[in-house]
Amino acid sequence: MITKRHVLQLAIAALTTACAVTAFAADTSPIKIGLILPMTGQSASTGRQIDAAVKLWMAQNGNKVAGRSIEVILKDDGAVPDATKRIAQELIVNDKVSVIAGFGITPTALATAPLATQSKTPLVVMAAATSSITEASPYIIRTSFTLPQVTIGIADWAAKNKIKKAVTLVADYGPGFDAEKYFDSQFRLNGGQILDKLRTPLRSPDFAPVLQKVLDAKPDALFVFLPSGQGAAFMKQFAERGLDKSGVKLIATGDVTDDDQLNDMGDVALGVVNSHHYSAAHPSATNKKFVDAFQAANKFRPNFMAVGGYDGMRVIYKALEATKGAGGDALLAAMKGQIFESPRGPVLIDGQTRDIVQDVYIRKVERVPAMGNGLYNVEFDVIKGVKDPGKLK
Ligand code: DHB
Repeated sequence: MITKRHVLQLAIAALTTACAVTAFAADTSPIKIGLILPMTGQSASTGRQIDAAVKLWMAQNGNKVAGRSIEVILKDDGAVPDATKRIAQELIVNDKVSVIAGFGITPTALATAPLATQSKTPLVVMAAATSSITEASPYIIRTSFTLPQVTIGIADWAAKNKIKKAVTLVADYGPGFDAEKYFDSQFRLNGGQILDKLRTPLRSPDFAPVLQKVLDAKPDALFVFLPSGQGAAFMKQFAERGLDKSGVKLIATGDVTDDDQLNDMGDVALGVVNSHHYSAAHPSATNKKFVDAFQAANKFRPNFMAVGGYDGMRVIYKALEATKGAGGDALLAAMKGQIFESPRGPVLIDGQTRDIVQDVYIRKVERVPAMGNGLYNVEFDVIKGVKDPGKLK
C-alpha cells in the first residue's frame, strides 16, 4: 500500500536525484576560453602564429582540465579595437567564457580592459606589449613581453660597442613610444647622443621618407622598433635605399628580425644585433622540442608571438587545475605567481604587476648551417630575470 509518507519519500528521492544530476551536469560542462586574434589584415601573422601555438598546446596537453573539456572559441577581430571590444562582450555575456585571451596589438587590449574589470573575467594578453596595458585592469595577465623590457638591453649593448650617435625609428603608437623612450634614456645615460627620433604610421607605413632622413643625419646606428609583420618590408627598403652600405649600423628589438619573416629577408639582415625574449634558435631542450613539434604541425617557424600564446595556455591550464575549473577572482589569483620553463627560458608571472618577468637575450642574425642554413637570431648574451622597467617608476 502506498502511503502519503511513501509519496513524500519518493518525491524527495526524485528531487535529490534531479539535484545531483544538475550538479553533475554543471561539473562536466565545457570550460570556454575566448581567443580574440587578428586572423585577417595587417597583423594576421600574429593571429596565425598564436592560433597554431594554442592548437599545439592542446594537442600536447589534452582538451580536459579538472575533468571538464576545454573549448577554445576563436574570433577574428582584424586588429580593430571596436571589433575586439564587441567580440569580447559577446564572448563574456553570451558564451560565458571563463577567460578572454589573445590581443594582437595594444589598442585592442586597451579597448577591452574595462570589460574584464566589469565582468571579473581574467584577460590574458598573449601578444600586445605596451608597458601600461597591465595597469588598465586588475584582471589582466600578460605572457608576451614589454617594449621597455626588451629595449634596455640593446641600448646598453650599443653604448658599449662604439656607437656614439643614434637615430630612433619606431611605429607611431604605444609600443613604439615605449621603445623610443627607453632607448633614448638608456642610451643617453650611457653617454650616447640621439640625433633624431622618427616615427612611421602603424597602418601601411612608407619607410622611404624616414630612411632618407637617416641617410642625411649619418648616425653610427639606427635603432628600430616595428610591430611583427613589418620587418621584411622595412629591411627591403633599408637595402634598396643603400643604407646597408652607408655605414649606418642597424640595431633593433627582435620584433624587426621576427622569426616569422627572418628567413626570407636575405643577406641585408645578416649581422643585425637586436634584443628580445625569444628566438627559435634558443638552445634549450624545451625549445627544441617546442620548435620541432610546431614546425611538424605547421610547416612554418614559431616566432615570439607563438611562444606568448603557448605560455598563455600553460598559465590558463595550470590556473584552471588549481581552481578545479572555477573562474573569476579565484582563477585570476591562480594565474599570479606561476613560475615555469618556457621555450624562451625561465619565466615568472609577477604576482604584483601581473606582468611577465623573463630573460632578455642579445642576439645577432646569422646563417646557421646546423639548422638548414637558415637565418636565425643567435643569442650571444643574456640579461637574467628582467622585470618590466615601465613598472619601476
Ligand atoms: C605590439 C604588436 C607587435 O606586433 C609587436 O611586435 C610588439 C607590440 C603591440 O601592438 O603591442
